[in-house]
Amino acid sequence: MMTYIDIFEKCKSSEGYFGQFRAQGDRYFTMPVMESIPGTVMKFNGKDHIMWSVNNYLGLSENEEIKEIARQTIAEWGLSGPMGSRMMSGNTRHHIELERQLADYVQKEDAILFNFGYLGVIGTIASMIEKDDIIVIDKLAHASIVDAAMSAVSDRKNIRVFRHNDMNSLENLLKRVNNIRKKGVLILTEGVYGMTGDIAKLDEICELKDRYEARLFVDDAHGIGVMGAHGRGAGEHFNVQDKIDLYFGTFAKAFASIGGFTAARKDAVEWMRYNARTQVFAKSLPMVYVKSLMKALDFIRNGHERRARLFEISTKLSTGLRDLGFFVGKVESPIVPVFVPQGDMSAAMNWVKHLRENGVFVTGVMYPVIPKGFIMFRMIPTASHTEEHVAKTISAFKSLKEDLKLDLSMNEDDMKKIYGDR
Ligand SMILES: Cc1ncc(COP(=O)(O)O)c(C=O)c1O
Repeated sequence: MMTYIDIFEKCKSSEGYFGQFRAQGDRYFTMPVMESIPGTVMKFNGKDHIMWSVNNYLGLSENEEIKEIARQTIAEWGLSGPMGSRMMSGNTRHHIELERQLADYVQKEDAILFNFGYLGVIGTIASMIEKDDIIVIDKLAHASIVDAAMSAVSDRKNIRVFRHNDMNSLENLLKRVNNIRKKGVLILTEGVYGMTGDIAKLDEICELKDRYEARLFVDDAHGIGVMGAHGRGAGEHFNVQDKIDLYFGTFAKAFASIGGFTAARKDAVEWMRYNARTQVFAKSLPMVYVKSLMKALDFIRNGHERRARLFEISTKLSTGLRDLGFFVGKVESPIVPVFVPQGDMSAAMNWVKHLRENGVFVTGVMYPVIPKGFIMFRMIPTASHTEEHVAKTISAFKSLKEDLKLDLSMNEDDMKKIYGDR
């Protein structure tokens, strides 16, 4: 008699991408249970913590005007209205208007809304790629981009990976791809790399994509609202916004909401409206988000002061931590990535616990998200943090270093492991 393996069998093991974290199952290090609304100080484990783990870049999560619009909209539309997909009964003039305003803001002809950023990335890429198109992707691209690539191609051979932000690697790949290509080529990259905080070299990438006749998709989840003179993102930062063919932004970070959008030339967006399956076959974005997002966009458009403050806090934090001897990675965006060598799971837990016991909430990031052997504290400053929050945080890191006698020394090889050579 044949015996078959039950699909639930694996659930008893500690396998799977985040298996080691699942095995931990503690709700303290992984899936911590938060006890207050997102902000600069958040309650956790019954105690207030200075929060450095929320992508609330411009501090809009606590904005009372946005909340008031949300309250009014819920009173009128309820939680779900409008209902149905955009194609059927879920479209309204407000959705169309928000798309128009987003396109206008990021200087593209048109834009399409998605209910989650993750679904936006997948819907966009999967709808634009067809048989024999080739995808060229940065090695460190976000999981949503990887999943999009996987779901877009019919043959995995049509996904080619270049070393993170390495222009030689990208150019070599584009040359090789052009020798065999039968159809289109789409380069996939983040704008600001959300984990490590460095920025894709979009000026060089745009030059290469023109030279090798490819198209470019930029997931600027962490750049929209934050980077560039007007907060238009990483493309504006490099003055190449017009060269980005498919510009994607999420609402889950600087907008402090939910959903996302892709902006592009008109025919491409119109194509997506009828072919991006993650949106075509999903209920449309509820009005409470649409209307409050318009207000958030207003704040973002006029967010010069907030952005300046955000970068000021980021610089103060990174300088203070560097002065203490911590290795702070590239600080090209507001994200402050702090790397500690010789860290394994139990060290990471110890360090995180130590910081939290000192009233500072950080998340420890480790392999497989970053290379083995390091622990990264990904610190996310916001425009609402104060000098006092920074000072208390620096002091918690000082006590971490001294009480636990951390060896913070990093060498060239460590640097390469983190940013290059992968
Ligand atoms: C780079 C990047 N792309 C896409 C997403 C997915 O966006 P959302 O959270 O809006 O689904 C995220 C969120 O973590 C992200 O960091």
